[in-house]
Amino acid sequence: MEKAVALAPDSWMPGGEPDPLIRAKHGSIGASVPRIDGPLKVRGAAPFAAEFALDGMLYAALMFSTVPKGRISTLDTTQAEAAPGVALVMTYRNAPRMKPMPLFMTAEKAGGSDNLPIMQDERIHWNGQPIAVVLAQTQEQADHAVSLIRATYETEAAVTSFATAKAKGTEPGLFMGQPLKAEKGDAEAALAKAPVRVDCRYSTPRHNHNAIEPHAATVAWVGDILIVHDASQAVHHTAWSLGQIFGIAEEQVHVTSPFVGGGFGGKCLWQHQVLGAAASKLAGRPVRITLSREGVYRLIGGRTLTEQRFAIGAEPEGRFVSLIHTGTVATAPQNAFPEPFILPTMSSYGSPNIKLDVQTVHLDMLANTFMRAPGESVGSFAMESAIDEMAVALGMDPVELRVLNQPEEDPLKGTSFSARHIAEAWRTGAERFGWSKRNPTAASVRDGEWLVGMGCATATYPYHRMPGGAARITLTRDGGAKVEIAAHEMGMGTATAHTQVVADRLGLSRDQVTFAYGDSAFPGVVLAGGSQQTASIGASVIAAHHVLIRDLLKLAGNDSPLAGLSADEVGTLNGGLAKLDDPTRHESYVSILTRSGRDHIAAEGSASPPLETQHWSMHSFGALFCEIGVNSVTGETRVRRFLGSYDCGRILNPKTAASQFRGGIIMGLGLALMEETQFDERNGRVMNPSLAEYHVPVHLDVPEIDVIWTDIPDPRAPMGARGIGEIGITGVGAAVANAIFNATGKRIRDLPITLDKLL
Ligand code: MOS
Repeated sequence: MEKAVALAPDSWMPGGEPDPLIRAKHGSIGASVPRIDGPLKVRGAAPFAAEFALDGMLYAALMFSTVPKGRISTLDTTQAEAAPGVALVMTYRNAPRMKPMPLFMTAEKAGGSDNLPIMQDERIHWNGQPIAVVLAQTQEQADHAVSLIRATYETEAAVTSFATAKAKGTEPGLFMGQPLKAEKGDAEAALAKAPVRVDCRYSTPRHNHNAIEPHAATVAWVGDILIVHDASQAVHHTAWSLGQIFGIAEEQVHVTSPFVGGGFGGKCLWQHQVLGAAASKLAGRPVRITLSREGVYRLIGGRTLTEQRFAIGAEPEGRFVSLIHTGTVATAPQNAFPEPFILPTMSSYGSPNIKLDVQTVHLDMLANTFMRAPGESVGSFAMESAIDEMAVALGMDPVELRVLNQPEEDPLKGTSFSARHIAEAWRTGAERFGWSKRNPTAASVRDGEWLVGMGCATATYPYHRMPGGAARITLTRDGGAKVEIAAHEMGMGTATAHTQVVADRLGLSRDQVTFAYGDSAFPGVVLAGGSQQTASIGASVIAAHHVLIRDLLKLAGNDSPLAGLSADEVGTLNGGLAKLDDPTRHESYVSILTRSGRDHIAAEGSASPPLETQHWSMHSFGALFCEIGVNSVTGETRVRRFLGSYDCGRILNPKTAASQFRGGIIMGLGLALMEETQFDERNGRVMNPSLAEYHVPVHLDVPEIDVIWTDIPDPRAPMGARGIGEIGITGVGAAVANAIFNATGKRIRDLPITLDKLL
């Protein structure tokens, strides 16, 4: 099937005929529109999941296990039950019967992060597993009552050390049913024969999700309808999965998520929504369940650790003859997410011989999960550090080495690139940053006690579009249009950018358009993940728009200037439809509705299957430049300047896009220099479950970040736009590490690059 799609004519594919909006020169797309939800957020009028106040609502607090594996032997809740304000304590003894969460990717709308029984028995599977829920009149009363519960455990031997797990042997990593493995030619033999070689090991630690908004849900049962006000990047997945868990129809679950304070892959379905719903059922009252910051660390998985080998064989003039990227990651037995660190190597460079392989081991720990640019963010650290090591070995400029090794076509699949303007991104970036002023000799530039260096790296992230997109467009006689789609606004500007797109698509002004999202009552299975939401929404709206034009023409009838035209012959213009090659044949939406005596027309359409991703190789790229200072006395690192030069297709809104890129880069600075979940290998306990001990960049850590882009539309993507949610974090770890090498002559291959590694 994949082969057939790759070989099929372009015209059969979605994107075969480029989206007409690519050609639009004037309009809303491309305008720096401020966030339309900005004023609401500033006034505190945007309701987040933990801000819905329901009548008779109880507050939940969770107790977490303190052992990694075994059984609860005693669980004394009597004091907690007698504490002030407590309505009930739920444990495995009285929790309603529920099925496990349907594990993500096992069905179209499966959204569960693990497949364990949820408070159904006395078994413990990870250190931090919830073992009791207290419901009380106030949060403080619930938190206090939890402290009164006494638990003892009968522990069992657990695997909590990575070395122990590896000693038992590794298994091939499977990602969406496919092995994370690829081979072309004989990479080991080519490496052995290569005139110039690097062959290095890199490691990256566990990372925790730290969205500004901790996870929360406000839950109520109204009769047999379950209402969940969630913080979600997957409302339909959550609704369907909760239906499966509680044995009710998908339509009996209503999930809303109007505002989300950051998702990054962490805000799908975890046990807290399920426990909140179960406790609410038991109490017969609405429940608000809000995780503390520690609760997020105990209950919500993050990025797992990786150990990677990256080897490159090259000819003396720099051309690669072998690329090897292999290694091992840890996952939990109850999930299926091996961090796919080989992804960046699949498309970044050409080589006749390539070998990629992700092996996994199982640890008794909280299920790990997606975290911004899973695979790419840590895989690009190894890949782009190794390229820098190769540039040093060859005595070549690292920008030139990267440009020299650009592939003509997809290095593994042989398919054509939809658009690839990375060389331009490198050129414009290098010029703007002043790369030519870099001293290629390491440890040779000083500024007082600071050693100063510059480094660069490639950023990369694929274009994704997942199946299931659909949207409804409603036009009303007052000239307004509403789009409804079960998509998500997690702070990145989705509502704003798509108001702009819909305005241009329908030939309306932005104030005539309402973009409604974040509700499982709306059409479309649209995951806000994989940087695919914009493409998915775009393709869904294109489909609904086709239906709308067809229905409007029918409604316009024979008395219209449009009479006799087919849907292919008309486009949208000035609040109505017009013949494409004769805009004088035009009728406004308002006129069509008025003449036909209708007050509105609604059209729903389903997006085409995302075959473009198999027919073309579709990826975004960036060229990153970093200037760093390392204090020669203290080992302290200061990022002095950073520039990201991106090639991500059309940029829909420069203002919100710049924030996306900057946010990703800042997260990448955390990955490079400070972020690390301290996991106690003796007992599987996370030891730094707070922002006091788990460090993320603060304002003083973040320098001037400059971002630019090519803005060249991708002819195969809706609106010409590839996603920009995740590419920002990719490559940043290596850009920083390479700058540190240039500054100090020290090559640090283990993240984070803390000062102890530089002294
Ligand atoms: Mo992203 S890690 O796919 O939300």
